[in-house]
Amino acid sequence: MPQLLIRDIPAEMKDWIDETSHSQRTSQKDFVLSVLMKAWKLGPSPSLFDRPAADSVQIGGLPFTFVDLFAGIGGMRLGLERNGGRCVFTSEWDKNAQKTYNAWFGDMPEGDIRQINPTDIPEHDVLAAGFPCQPFSIAGVSKKRSLGREHGFKDATQGTLFFHLAEIIEVKRPPVVLLENVKNLRSHDKGQTWTVIRRTLENLDYVLFDRIIDAAGWVPQHRERIFIVGFDRRVFGSAPVFSYPEPPSKTIRRFRDILDPSTNAKYTLTDHLWKYLQNYAAKHKARGNGFGFGMTDLNGISRTLSARYHKDGSEILIPQGPGCNPRRLSPREAARLMGFPDELPIVVSDTQAYRQFGNAVVPLVVDAIGKEIARALTRYLATRANGCLIKRSGVPRSKIHAVR
Ligand SMILES: C[S@@+](CC[C@H](N)C(=O)[O-])C[C@H]1O[C@@H](n2cnc3c(N)ncnc32)[C@H](O)[C@@H]1O
Repeated sequence: MPQLLIRDIPAEMKDWIDETSHSQRTSQKDFVLSVLMKAWKLGPSPSLFDRPAADSVQIGGLPFTFVDLFAGIGGMRLGLERNGGRCVFTSEWDKNAQKTYNAWFGDMPEGDIRQINPTDIPEHDVLAAGFPCQPFSIAGVSKKRSLGREHGFKDATQGTLFFHLAEIIEVKRPPVVLLENVKNLRSHDKGQTWTVIRRTLENLDYVLFDRIIDAAGWVPQHRERIFIVGFDRRVFGSAPVFSYPEPPSKTIRRFRDILDPSTNAKYTLTDHLWKYLQNYAAKHKARGNGFGFGMTDLNGISRTLSARYHKDGSEILIPQGPGCNPRRLSPREAARLMGFPDELPIVVSDTQAYRQFGNAVVPLVVDAIGKEIARALTRYLATRANGCLIKRSGVPRSKIHAVR
């Protein structure tokens, strides 16, 4: 079918596909797919989340603009677009993440944020950034310690990324910033890392809110992340009105709901790997610690999907009945566990897909926070005009008296 399409289209369009895919450093197939995705999102068919397309502003939404930094595969973007947000700039340097992002949104992200001059970033209402968690996470810290490398702000490369972010905030002064990171950010380095982040943003004149939110309220996965929302004090004053969302219900879905009835046999653990995981768990149990695989309760929720899931899948194993080795999630199931809709194609290898989903933010959580941000923006617009959203010129008092 795609071949038919390419053969039958006019020559100029072929040239355009050829040139644009070349300039975006993507294959013709992925480029055509991304254009189709865009058209599909605009069209009458149900949107990614069974709601009207993000391009048509929803009731309660607000046509704000945002930038998507450290974008990964665009979990922040999906969540913010659902509230009327329009993305005006993206940065993500990983080639595979760029490929997925381009296929999903039809935009090729700019690369290394350190090479981007903040003044080249368009004006925007919300700056969204899931800045890299590695220097601040327990896993990242212990890995770096074992390699004899510095971590946190002392890390000469990744640690300084936060300061690039701070510089962009200082130059562009977005009214709102939305940052996401691992739960451990607050306790890292005895709270020192968090203190520096807080102080940096407060010194830039932002009023901060922060909360650790477990995505288990939206998807059947225990996934705690810190969400920081900052409001520019020079715009909103020192007491902006904002509250974090509550999950829609306790656990709305069970783990079994995201599973396919059958999957490729390659996702079943080999005898060798299964034996290794069991021995590893037994060894650690004997030492009195809880390291080990996670056999998931099909009626419950899973452990956190990590970026290293592709290695052995040990944190989220799926039982397959007595006498059978468990299996790991397929990439599509991993996408569902994160709340990414089935309509979004997986355009990278299994390994890259697991990495991308394990690194991502749950879009439904961003959607819920985005709704509260949009509410805060609307409230600001309304109050700024003395309670009148569209300011009318007042009727002169003398006229009122004249009517009387
Ligand atoms: C924690 S992930 C963010 C994931 C994202 N929130 C999502 O939903 O997919 C951090 C991302 O920052 C990217 N990154 C790290 N250093 C970067 C740099 N110097 N410039 C641009 N992107 C960078 C990584 O490739 C990674 O995808």
